[in-house]
Amino acid sequence: MGSFLPIAKANAKSSVGTRVSIRGWIYRTRSSGGLAFVVVRDATGIIQVTARKQALGEEGFTKFSSALIESSVEVTGTVAEDARAPGGFELRVEEARVIATAEPFPIFSGQTEEFQLDHRHLAIRSSDIVATLKVKAEVLRSARAFLDNNGYLEMTPPLLTGNAAEGGAEAFTLDYFGREAYLAQTAQLYLEALIFPLEKVYSITTSFRAEKSRTNRHLTEYTHLEVESAWAGLKENLELQEALVVQVCHDVAEHRPRELEALGRKPEELLALHAPFERIRYEQALERLASQGIEIPFGRDLGTNEERALTIDRKEPLFVTNYPAAIKAFYMLRTVEDERVVDGNDLLAPEGYGELIGASCRETRIDVLRSRLEHDGANMANYEWYLDLRRYGSVPHAGFGLGVERLVRWIGRREHIRDTTPFPRTPSRVTP
Ligand code: 4AD
Ligand code: MG
Repeated sequence: MGSFLPIAKANAKSSVGTRVSIRGWIYRTRSSGGLAFVVVRDATGIIQVTARKQALGEEGFTKFSSALIESSVEVTGTVAEDARAPGGFELRVEEARVIATAEPFPIFSGQTEEFQLDHRHLAIRSSDIVATLKVKAEVLRSARAFLDNNGYLEMTPPLLTGNAAEGGAEAFTLDYFGREAYLAQTAQLYLEALIFPLEKVYSITTSFRAEKSRTNRHLTEYTHLEVESAWAGLKENLELQEALVVQVCHDVAEHRPRELEALGRKPEELLALHAPFERIRYEQALERLASQGIEIPFGRDLGTNEERALTIDRKEPLFVTNYPAAIKAFYMLRTVEDERVVDGNDLLAPEGYGELIGASCRETRIDVLRSRLEHDGANMANYEWYLDLRRYGSVPHAGFGLGVERLVRWIGRREHIRDTTPFPRTPSRVTP
């Protein structure tokens, strides 16, 4: 057999009447008498393959038509129009080869979520997951392109660290040759160090959170896109976040429209997004919630219910700025006019999907950082290097962290965040 055509190209008008070879996996199969209809998929799409006993011979036909779904095959034939076939074209087989037969495939619809997760290494072949993974790859490609085009350099911060920057309680600890170390919850502190030589940096790394919370938006291991900019204030930080999110949404709509449709998201909804996103202060958010009958005292964090109430009827993301310092991380810069709150923000997805981004300007005063770290019970020795960044030519700076799976969950309208990652890690699951 000659070179292989991607199935999406074979299942197209331009291929009608031509002789092509494809290869992939059996997706559906049925036969009666001397005729078999076998739908084959590859990474690009599916095509109906029509095999006749006359064309393949007795033995070849029996082998091909009795191969179970997920068997791998190579097929050569001529493409013809057929309105009944998926996509409108079929491949009339001249040669067919079973590369490897499959045992009865254990995954089918109607099984429990647990069973599917136990067989995740096979379940990732299902069309919803495939569509989601294609969307996720486009999110990553687009975000990288956006940041590269805006002068940001991609960094590779460490994931083994002595600092539990987002609160010690939620860090995985490990024995590092007899010393206690952590799996990174954030690259932020390292990105802050890197702005001094490079000014505009970002990283896309795995962050780890030892959160026991079983919600549909928490993983214990997730993909964290983090950006840090020298000389940036709250305004510049907000503008970068919305420009990034808009660009990524437009790119996904443009490059993955079929996958979005399959997931229940209209590409036009993403194309309609534009900057600026609405900005409200935390205190305004409390007022909005009160008007909806949800009373939250100043100083309490906004949880899933509150974020949902604020965004359920929205079409665009919402910035909430100036949260109380007490409920945010030690490094957030106090707001000049109101020291109770910080120059930081969360970005909330529309339709109730919740927090996508956590962001802030960074505190530059050593005494403020030190007293907050002491208040949090941090091991000060581990943070001396970080305080050094304030001792040698500190500058105003700001950054943010975007949860890639959170973004994909909203874009792809997934019920659970585990549907956005091939091998989800949750408190109850670390295999397969
Ligand atoms: O809000 P977080 O905790 O902020 C930081 O880690 C900052 N140091 C980032 C920075 O400024 N460089 O986390 C950032 C984002 C959240 O908005 C959320 O989207 C995602 O990371 N995230 C999670 N995603 C999935 N599972 C979890 N358990 C997550 N925890 C946070
Ligand atoms: Mg947060």
